[in-house]
Amino acid sequence: MKLVNVKDVALRAGVSVGTVSNVMNHPEKVSGKSIALVRSAIDDLGFIRNDAARQLREGRSSTIGLIVLDARNPFFTDMARGAEARAAEAGLSVLLANSGASVEREATYLDLFEQQRVHGVLISPLGESTSRLVTLRARGIPAVLVDRAIADLSFSSVSVDDVAGGRMAAEHLIAIGRNRLAYLSGPPGLRQTADRLEGARQAVAAHPGVNLAVIELDSLSVHAGRAAGTAISALAECPDAIFAANDLVAIGVLQALVVRGSGITVPDDIAIIGYDDIDFATSAIVPLSSIRQPSALIGQTAIDILLEEAADPGIPPRQVLFQPELVARASTTTT
Ligand code: RIB
Repeated sequence: MKLVNVKDVALRAGVSVGTVSNVMNHPEKVSGKSIALVRSAIDDLGFIRNDAARQLREGRSSTIGLIVLDARNPFFTDMARGAEARAAEAGLSVLLANSGASVEREATYLDLFEQQRVHGVLISPLGESTSRLVTLRARGIPAVLVDRAIADLSFSSVSVDDVAGGRMAAEHLIAIGRNRLAYLSGPPGLRQTADRLEGARQAVAAHPGVNLAVIELDSLSVHAGRAAGTAISALAECPDAIFAANDLVAIGVLQALVVRGSGITVPDDIAIIGYDDIDFATSAIVPLSSIRQPSALIGQTAIDILLEEAADPGIPPRQVLFQPELVARASTTTT
């Protein structure tokens, strides 16, 4: 006998799978008419919620899937370590996947984690679509966003206020007397770096006479930072301060300016600040000022929320927003 699934219920009721999921998990979001249609279809078809069916069939998996944007970035691996430590306390393991900012690869890993019937998914998502996560949740696999929220707040998230972080970085550069700022941003569509730019623009707008140039990089890597640093050093008029969207880019800029002997001194000629405060920031050739994200705490908190939602799918989504912290080091401290 074929097990009835959510899609059968949706078809019978004449509604979407997401509506069926909401009737079961977030009835407050659904009209009375739809609730009645779905409940009637569930009764007619003898549908058993996936959680019960899955536990009857296979039991809950003891693994959690984590999809990050860039596994080369210590910010994400530090976050993964925080998630892993907290998951281990609950007897669970974390499978780390790297989307590499590829939509196709992200989809492949979500399919894989569903096939593995993971306990839940943590994801730093690309774009604003949640349809795939809605389907996962309807099949008993909760998802929590890490590193950013989603516009419709339909899923829990744990992140840092990147607008405040961007504002903090620019205000710090302005406070040390710089007024020709350059922001080295990530590829278009990356919410995290767009929010940091928004914050930097807010700070600049509050200080007449300060200018902000935006240089869009095709990746947030040391290599891209090195290329940007080399190009900047060749300008007739250089910026007097650089805000890099993350520490990897900032370290690349430092290598181009300092290691390659551009003749430009840091911070006297150009002050540099990054974002994330990864371990390499402290040991950079010029200790790097940065905006710190509590990466391990983000991972731990996301696991806590995921376990709560796995135990009770009816819990409404919640957003946890940590505040960034300025860490001033030699790359912005003039003597
Ligand atoms: O992936 C891009 C950036 O967003 C990372 O460096 C980290 O700052 C994340 O928040």
